[in-house]
Amino acid sequence: MDLSTTYLGLRLRNPLLASASPLSRTVDGVRRLADAGVGAVVIHSLFEEQLRREAEYNERMATQGNESYAESLTYFPANVDDGQGPARYLRLVERAAAAVDIPVIGSLNASTPGSWARYAHWMQDAGAAAIEVNVYYLPGDTHVDGAAVEQRHLDVLAAVKSAATVPVAVKLSPYFSATADMVHRLDAAGADGVVLFNRFLQPDIDPENLATVRAVSLSTPAETRLPLTWIALLRGRIRASLAASTGVEHAADVAKYLLAGADVVQSASALLRHGPAYAGVLLQGLRDWMSRKGFHTLDEVRGLLATPDAEGWAARERADYVWAVREANSGAYGSY
Ligand SMILES: Cc1cc2nc3c(=O)[nH]c(=O)nc-3n(C[C@H](O)[C@H](O)[C@H](O)COP(=O)(O)O)c2cc1C
Repeated sequence: MDLSTTYLGLRLRNPLLASASPLSRTVDGVRRLADAGVGAVVIHSLFEEQLRREAEYNERMATQGNESYAESLTYFPANVDDGQGPARYLRLVERAAAAVDIPVIGSLNASTPGSWARYAHWMQDAGAAAIEVNVYYLPGDTHVDGAAVEQRHLDVLAAVKSAATVPVAVKLSPYFSATADMVHRLDAAGADGVVLFNRFLQPDIDPENLATVRAVSLSTPAETRLPLTWIALLRGRIRASLAASTGVEHAADVAKYLLAGADVVQSASALLRHGPAYAGVLLQGLRDWMSRKGFHTLDEVRGLLATPDAEGWAARERADYVWAVREANSGAYGSY
């Protein structure tokens, strides 16, 4: 069965991608994911904060009369490397890209446009087939309005696009007042793909110890419903590729995202929970499902349940909601 597909203009052997996660922090990790069969690997992110630290260090060195400063900014930034730093990241991209025969996608994690974007260029030089930029930004400032948040995303995209010629995907949070419009504007601004969605950390509260708890939790399939809704709505309405991210646990979740219209489906939590080899289980499950349903190619599956009419869908969503509330009020979920 042919699972080959195209994402960001790249030809992939199948539509399952390993999301940015600790599994792609080493060359061995990337190799394990490739051996398990994924179509591409997104390397864990290089963070804007790491790059700012390096710039500050360079600045300090410059003001101390380090004559190599100006030059050092123009090539591989090897002058600062704390073991986890940018230089090490670029080496990882370079070695990973050489070690596997699937596309390796570099990832930048940022919340403001800035000079860090030149790392997109260095990632490309190191062998990244594309760049994914994760705009991880919680607009907690009560003076920052929605228009400014949206513009920030466009500015980050513009900064990365001007630094790299390889395709660029933008990974978004689900929290916009008009997600479809935001995606449409990113598409018009040249995004080659959008990844729907990132997950915020969302700290918990421990009421016994009266403390906030910072912990990364892995996702569950219940979380696929929000990305599914937006992918079904956006399918066929933008030029950019659509990548689904969040909540994949079973092959059925991959199938759902494809039916909604995703070009590719990313997974982090399931591969962390079960190990990289689980990618093979997901892919085999997808093949089994397709043959059970009589599908031969992804084109027959993709977007089959996308929303043909966005406004109609919005009206239906509202009608379904009113119906569900009525059901609940009539005691469908228990007597209360
Ligand atoms: C432990 C962990 C580390 C992650 N690190 C990154 C990262 O470096 N960059 C990034 O863009 N996303 C990162 N993510 C987010 C994932 O790539 C993914 O978008 C998110 O977890 C939703 O997908 P999932 O439901 O398959 O986990 C991380 C997620 C987890 C659980």
